This record gives sequence, structure tokens and C-alpha cells, in this order.
Amino acid sequence: MQPVAIKNDIFWVGCVDYDHRDFHGYSTSPEGTTYNAYLIKDQKNALFDTVYPGFGKTLLCRLAKTLDPEKIDYIICNHMEFDHAGSLAEIVERTKPEKIFVSQTGMKSLQGYYGQTDWPLVPVKSGDSISLGKRTVVFQETRMLHWPDSMVSYIPEEKLLISNDIFGQNIASTVRFLDEYKDKGDYEHRVKEYFYNIVLPYSPIVLKALPIVEKLDIDMIAPDHGLIHRGVDACRAIVETYRNLAEQKPQKKALIFFDTMWHSTEQMAYAIGSGLEDNGVPIRIMSTKNNHHSTIQTELADCGCVIAGSPTHNNTILPLVSAQLTYMKGLKPLHRIGGAFGSYGWSGESAKIIHEALASMGMEMPCQPLKCAWRPTKDVLKACHAFGETMAKALIAKCEQA
Ligand SMILES: Cc1cc2nc3c(=O)[nH]c(=O)nc-3n(C[C@H](O)[C@H](O)[C@H](O)COP(=O)(O)O)c2cc1C
Ligand SMILES: [Fe+2]
Ligand SMILES: [Fe+2]
Repeated sequence: MQPVAIKNDIFWVGCVDYDHRDFHGYSTSPEGTTYNAYLIKDQKNALFDTVYPGFGKTLLCRLAKTLDPEKIDYIICNHMEFDHAGSLAEIVERTKPEKIFVSQTGMKSLQGYYGQTDWPLVPVKSGDSISLGKRTVVFQETRMLHWPDSMVSYIPEEKLLISNDIFGQNIASTVRFLDEYKDKGDYEHRVKEYFYNIVLPYSPIVLKALPIVEKLDIDMIAPDHGLIHRGVDACRAIVETYRNLAEQKPQKKALIFFDTMWHSTEQMAYAIGSGLEDNGVPIRIMSTKNNHHSTIQTELADCGCVIAGSPTHNNTILPLVSAQLTYMKGLKPLHRIGGAFGSYGWSGESAKIIHEALASMGMEMPCQPLKCAWRPTKDVLKACHAFGETMAKALIAKCEQA
């Protein structure tokens, strides 16, 4: 359990949580995650962020290999969420810092979680800076990326940006740097997963923040989850990836998700899918029973079109489809087209309910809701195929306009 030097006298002192599966309590993290915390040894020794509850001792143990914890002078809390501040009380107790820096809004969330404390808190705002000796820490608030209290810390002398949740990924690994990580496909997926399940609603804010990051002279971005981006090119690459994710330009792929009791709605899903494929649009079909809502949400990153289906169940839709729609709506996807379908027996409300849910997310709806009584007949399957064809043409047109 050693600290990892990421620059001269700057160390990773975080924890790898291989078993964490429900990131933030609602999103899957199939490979676990890391809680990165960083130490700068200077005339003033500064610890940047802490770790998830239960991991405080691991952090202290690792840190103690390079510095007596009581020699920590400053703690910088870039974000008060539990994965970065959940062990704060334990760390404060052990290190007895001279000062703890938090954003002004962070003072509120800190009080909300820890109540009144006698901690030596110092609120900071964008542009404020502190000297550690040879190095300076400049604070930049990143409100609503992804909490009101979020901020990042820039160390100009080291060309280092400690970026908190921004640019992070849920990866649990022995390696600390992206350039050491062999599975680039997995990395890209985990960036998408993190962005689409946590950051997506704040895409317009991301697009305003990226030019600020681009003006900084940096050669390392150290996020609080996952791998560190080392080198100017790697920093540029992750900024560009974030720009693409936040812009949400329509992409030529369709996500079809559904639930079904007796497989009629499922048959419709596959017929619609083949209508899309036959007209040049790749698809991904996902049953809500077999895929976690965050896995379906991640798939949306590659899809400009969302088509959802449910049979009518007690005059409404099945609960997993409802949950998926609620989850997706909260994450505020932009620039999509949508479509709705479902089988029914007697009253048949489901397709219309889904149609309205997708329309309420601002999606363009090129087709009327597609209903099928009981089992789809050959004609119904043809209608499903035609539905897929119309959706494909609408998506291709949207992609060409963008
Ligand atoms: C418990 C239950 C409740 C249902 N409630 C309704 C309903 O309120 N209105 C309706 O039109 N059909 C209702 N149905 C009929 C289903 O919508 C119909 O069987 C449909 O074909 C099922 O599609 P699936 O094969 O995709 O599950 C209900 C079926 C079940 C089993
Ligand atoms: Fe967070
Ligand atoms: Fe986090």
C-alpha cells in the first residue's frame, strides 16, 4: 500500500474499491471504482479531497508512508459528496489541519452533512489562491458540475489540474495513468458511462467550462475517480471527448428499450429494429428486465434515436419502462428523436403514455404511437418495420442537418 508519485513531491494517496457496484446508490459501476485523493508536499502540506466512508484508514495508511498525517497543514475539499468527503471527519480528527478550504456553497453542504463543526473552515471562490510554498493552488468553482459546491484546484507551477468528478471514470485498477491502462475500449466506455449517468444534465455548463480549462497551461488532469490523464495530448483528448459528449450531436444509431409480459411487445421491438437496420441505421435493443437502467442510459451516448415499448398493464406501462423513462428524463438528453410502441389487450394506453413521456423530454416524434392488439400479425409486423423505416429516415435527415 504505497503512495504513487504523480509529479515531484505530489502523490496519489487514494483508495481502490474493487467491490463497489452501485455508484452513488443508483448507477452501476460494474468494475468498481477509485476514490482519488492527492497530497502535495511543500512548505505547507496539502491533501486534496478524501475518500468514501470506511476507506479513511486506507488513505491514512498510504499517506503515512510518505508523510506523518499530523504534518498535513491544509485539506482542500473540492466537493462535499460522500465519495470525496465521507471520511472527512476521521481524516480531520487524525491530521488536525490548520485550514480546510471549501467553496462558499460547499459551506452549506458541509453543514448539511456534518452539522456545526469547530473545523478551521475557509470558504473560497473562483480565482482565489493560496500559497503552499513553492506552489500555488488556484481555485475555480464549477457550480453544478455536478453539485452546487463543486470546484477544481489548479496548480500552475506543476501544470496540474485536480478536477474532482469532472473527467473521471469508474475504473478500479492498480495502474494510475490512462497511458498505462491497456483496455482503451473499456476506458472510453467508462468515460461515457460516467458522463451519461452523472454529468449529462449539465452539458450546457460543461460547454461553458471547457474553454476555461483549455486556457490553462496543463499537462496533467487528475480526476477523483479512475485514471489520470498524463501529458498535454491526453489532457486535450479528454477535453475533446467531453466536448463531444456534451454537444450531443445526433448520432446514427437507435436505442430500442422495452419490457414485455408475453413477448408481443418484444416481437414489435425486433420488427422495428429490422426496419431501422434495413434502412441503414444500426440498433441496440435492450430489455429493461435484463439491463440496469444506467446501462441503458449509457447506450444513449451513441444513439440519436430512442424508441421505447411496453405492453399496457393495468391501464398504464410496466414499472421498469416507467423507471427508465423517469431516469432518462432527469438526465435531460438533448437533440434526440423518439418513438413509442406497445401491445395491448383491451384499453391500450401504453404507447401513448410513452410517446408523451419522450415528447416531454423535448424529443422530436416523427411517428404516431404504434399499438398492436394482442399478438402481432404479419401485417402488424410490417407496420412495425415501416415504423422503423420512418424513424431511420428521420434520424438520417437529422444527422445530415447537424
Ligand atoms: C396483469 C395484466 C394486466 C393488463 N392490463 C391491461 C390493461 O389495463 N389494458 C390493456 O389494454 N391490456 C392489458 N393487459 C393485456 C396486455 O396488454 C396484453 O396481453 C398484451 O398483448 C401483452 O403484451 P406483451 O406480450 O408484450 O406482454 C393486461 C395483461 C395483464 C397480464
Ligand atoms: Fe460527485
Ligand atoms: Fe465523485
